[in-house]
Amino acid sequence: MSGIKKIGVFTSGGDSPGMNACIRAVVRTALYHKIEVCGIIRGYEGMIENDFITLHSRSVSNIIHRGGTILKSARSEEFKTEEGRKKANENLIANGVNALVAIGGDGTFRGFTEFSKLNPDIKAIGVPGTIDNDLTGTDFTLGFDTAVNTVIDAIDKLRDTADSHHRLFFIEVMGRDSGCIALWSGVAGGAEEILLPEQDITIDDLIKQLQEGAKKKKSSSIVIVSEGYHLGGAQEIAKKVTEHFKFYDTRVSVLGHIQRGGSPTVFDRILGTRLGVRAVELLLEGETNKMVGIMNNKISLTDFSNATKQQSPLDEDLLRMRSILTI
Ligand code: F6P
Repeated sequence: MSGIKKIGVFTSGGDSPGMNACIRAVVRTALYHKIEVCGIIRGYEGMIENDFITLHSRSVSNIIHRGGTILKSARSEEFKTEEGRKKANENLIANGVNALVAIGGDGTFRGFTEFSKLNPDIKAIGVPGTIDNDLTGTDFTLGFDTAVNTVIDAIDKLRDTADSHHRLFFIEVMGRDSGCIALWSGVAGGAEEILLPEQDITIDDLIKQLQEGAKKKKSSSIVIVSEGYHLGGAQEIAKKVTEHFKFYDTRVSVLGHIQRGGSPTVFDRILGTRLGVRAVELLLEGETNKMVGIMNNKISLTDFSNATKQQSPLDEDLLRMRSILTI
């Protein structure tokens, strides 16, 4: 007997496409095993404010294709305080919830680790939900694939106009302090240069690279700037290099939050489904304080204490190939 009475599912931190597919999988798997399930609105905020809703099989109909999260999301400052966690604990107990599926990033998992010191009887399995793809213990986070596909769609369109006008485009992408979105979209979009938070490429290096390209008669150039690049965002970098490129007209495009929205790709729907089903099964098997992920296409399990931001998340092989392909 697992002792699980009611599972609460919530989404926390920045939303990401595929979260709804995961919520659907959690709800239906719990009900399949005759376990009650409820949704907690706006993550830890809703836990503190007692915003719980009962979920049925039909509550999650027609959401698998939708971006965002039907449960809403938030980054809770109050949950970082003991007072906040105590309120959340009282509400979980009052609602009969003794297990959680937490869909979010490392901040979400750190929050629960603190919470379990207060009440170790409440179990939790985490699902990595963030477009940044920056967590140890999983090859992919939920929403990353959709986000890079959104970026690629934008790069392809910008390349058409860049080429028509002989322009140098700086395209800024999200990822906070991880360059995963930038690297993948830069390689898939054929960018001339990719500025990553993990690398110390200087403005001089960048200018040299672009000048080489110009000498080789490249009619336009695309530079992907990760928002966490150490010398600034796309606007700042564009200002610094513009004067060196009289023959190019320079333009900047900051993609922003469109990267977080949209209908999830097949990959993210399947990932959300697999991780959601397994999260419930793992709770029933007695697991807790662990993140369920995917490594080498197999379900993996990582302690919350190790499911932190990766120090060096970038694929070395992809980095190497990128340098070859920009000649
Ligand atoms: O973590 C996801 C993410 O989209 C990051 O890539 C970005 O830095 C951040 O969230 C933006 O946060 P907000 O939606 O609060 O502006």
